[in-house]
Amino acid sequence: MKRKLLTMMMAFVLVLTFSVAGCSSSKDTNDTSTNAPDTTQDTDKDATSNDDSSKDTTQDNASEDKKSVVTVACGAVGIELDLTKKAVELFNQDNPNIEVRVLETPDLAQDRLGLYLQFLEAQSSDVDVYQIDVIWPGDLAEHFVDLYQYGAKEVAGDHFAPIIENNTVDGKLIGMPWFTDAGLLYYRKDLLEKYNLEIPTTWDELETCAKTIQDGERADNPDFWGYVWQGNAYEGLTCDAVEWIVSNGGGSIVSPEKVITVNNDKAAEIIEKAASWVGTISPDGVTGFGEEDARNMWQTGNAAFMRNWPYAYVLGNSDDSAIKGLFDVVPLPKGDAGRGAAALGGWQLAVSKYSNDPEAAAKVALFLASYDIQKLRAIEGSFNPTIKSLYQDEEVLEASPFFGSLYDVFTNAAPRPSTATAPRYNEVSTYFYQAVHSVLTGESNAKDALLELEIELQDLLGFEVGAPE
Ligand code: GLC
Repeated sequence: MKRKLLTMMMAFVLVLTFSVAGCSSSKDTNDTSTNAPDTTQDTDKDATSNDDSSKDTTQDNASEDKKSVVTVACGAVGIELDLTKKAVELFNQDNPNIEVRVLETPDLAQDRLGLYLQFLEAQSSDVDVYQIDVIWPGDLAEHFVDLYQYGAKEVAGDHFAPIIENNTVDGKLIGMPWFTDAGLLYYRKDLLEKYNLEIPTTWDELETCAKTIQDGERADNPDFWGYVWQGNAYEGLTCDAVEWIVSNGGGSIVSPEKVITVNNDKAAEIIEKAASWVGTISPDGVTGFGEEDARNMWQTGNAAFMRNWPYAYVLGNSDDSAIKGLFDVVPLPKGDAGRGAAALGGWQLAVSKYSNDPEAAAKVALFLASYDIQKLRAIEGSFNPTIKSLYQDEEVLEASPFFGSLYDVFTNAAPRPSTATAPRYNEVSTYFYQAVHSVLTGESNAKDALLELEIELQDLLGFEVGAPE
């Protein structure tokens, strides 16, 4: 795992070094690559324009002297990267004095965070805009500018207020909301019908349905599984497990009042339940699954149910999907709390304090988070907008009808305890998902794992221990 991360980091740094060589040189008016062509151009053209630019070095005109390069570090899950590139092209068309470059980052949230921290802690100007997770504002605030100083005041009111609040640290808006996320249950309509089953609304019903369909489908398809989700030891497992525990009345690790609540029977019970899925209704390999692993199995028609974020909706309905038109989404099942819970996810755009041109960077961040771009991403990628009025937009609702029907799920999603535990949330989550993972893999039982976790969290945070309310 560590080695894989290290390799990824090195590869990333290489890519960045290459891309940043272009960035810094184009900021330097004496450098021959001031007129460096767009990286999407073919090599012949590159060679030609590079020649031209070296001839031109001494006679660059004033507007080109002022050209800024803004590098945006962003995600590449599903078609995320393509949509970001598309938006950037639109920006570049209208803003010849700012060249935006897109930097692909790893899929798993904490791998991405590890890379970001390398740049941020080195106070590097190589990346100007960072796509940051909804759980990171409290941990990373010190590295970002206050977007209220760069034009965000006029638009902040258009976005969901709780997200703006989440992104506001000491009165500073450190991230422009880009898209929001909530965990959903994807189910195969055709298979429920085939086996004469209702949509499951509790975890017990989900188990029964998943088993029935799996047993039936295995006759023709030995690779078929009942339920796929995110069981790797990473931030995604924190989301899945928070959903299980909240739905079962076991609280969300640490309460907003800064009480450590995670060591309780309701939490232990539902984690044991999830562990019982591994190798029965879920593949053994689920303990290594991230979002894309689950989606791949689902989208190739090899699973009856999937827990995932909204982005999998448009992809599941794409022409190359084996399950196009055969599925729908509903809220995740209920446990003893009597209601299902969706983890609150989502991503923001933050501008680095170490950027050479925070003004240009903020302009890019605001553009990417604007109504038009959020609309494009909602329609083409089922990324949930953070701009309230887009939930009334007919084209958006036509592309993803569940934005309307599951509106309450999105506005009532369960937050992870990132505000209460900042700036240590990432450590809290790491202890948490490691504890849950140890139960899923059978290394530990839930009671012991949660007791140990409680002690670790007390040491880390110095908070009181108590029961979830
Ligand atoms: C999604 C969510 C994000 C979460 C991550 C976990 O990207 O939007 O908030 O941390 O999944 O894998």
